Amino acid sequence: MSLIVANWKMNTLPSDAAELAKTVSTHSAVTTALNAGTAVVLCPPFTSLHAVAPHTSARLALGAQNCAREDSGAFTGEIGAPMLVALGCTYVILGHSERRRDQFETNEIIGMKAKRALEHGLTPIVCIGESLEERITNRTVEVLRAQIDGIVSTSGATVLAKCIVAYEPVWAIGTGKSASTEQIESTHTDIIMHLGITCGVHIRVLYGGSVTSANAKEILSLPGVSGALVGGASLKADEFGAIVAASVRT
Ligand code: PGA
Repeated sequence: MSLIVANWKMNTLPSDAAELAKTVSTHSAVTTALNAGTAVVLCPPFTSLHAVAPHTSARLALGAQNCAREDSGAFTGEIGAPMLVALGCTYVILGHSERRRDQFETNEIIGMKAKRALEHGLTPIVCIGESLEERITNRTVEVLRAQIDGIVSTSGATVLAKCIVAYEPVWAIGTGKSASTEQIESTHTDIIMHLGITCGVHIRVLYGGSVTSANAKEILSLPGVSGALVGGASLKADEFGAIVAASVRT
């Protein structure tokens, strides 16, 4: 069963978000794929969660793009996992590379957030990925394993075992240049192996980074790819619908 996650990032006012969610939820390609077993998660900004919630369901779920390390208290500007649950979220994206870059999130912080999110019943979608320099200097495997180990150091292996991991090469995000199928296949194989050794279970790994309707079928049919985390292309209903449709194995 594939999982396709729409990361709307810092886009949409509540009215736009409601409109987009309504169009996606009634899109024929999406409803066909949902009936075939695909699960979809819409992750609007915090301020649009309430507007998207009425258009979601068990298979077309609501997710947030981040949550705090703490549930409540004196943490100005933060949003805790219980607040997301109260709005209908069942998933939360954690450790996206844009947050690692702009909010200085470390693997250890991401691990704490994953633990907190899971305690409240949210399924964390934990992002990992290497920079272009790390890829070019053949350090991809080492960097990804270190990210996983850093997260586990604060979440514990039993927490990560219940998460979904998203492999997003930083150089492929928003660049229009997705990783090649060879790169995706070999990297997913190593991530799944390392997660298996670390957590003792098979963990689903999504691919993210310039997924479009043009490359979705090829990427989603690779062994070891359990779905996609889609940024830019998730803001256009037809384009996103085509990506969701590509998840159906024929
Ligand atoms: P993109 O973003 O699909 O626009 O490359 C993916 C992501 O950042 O999750």
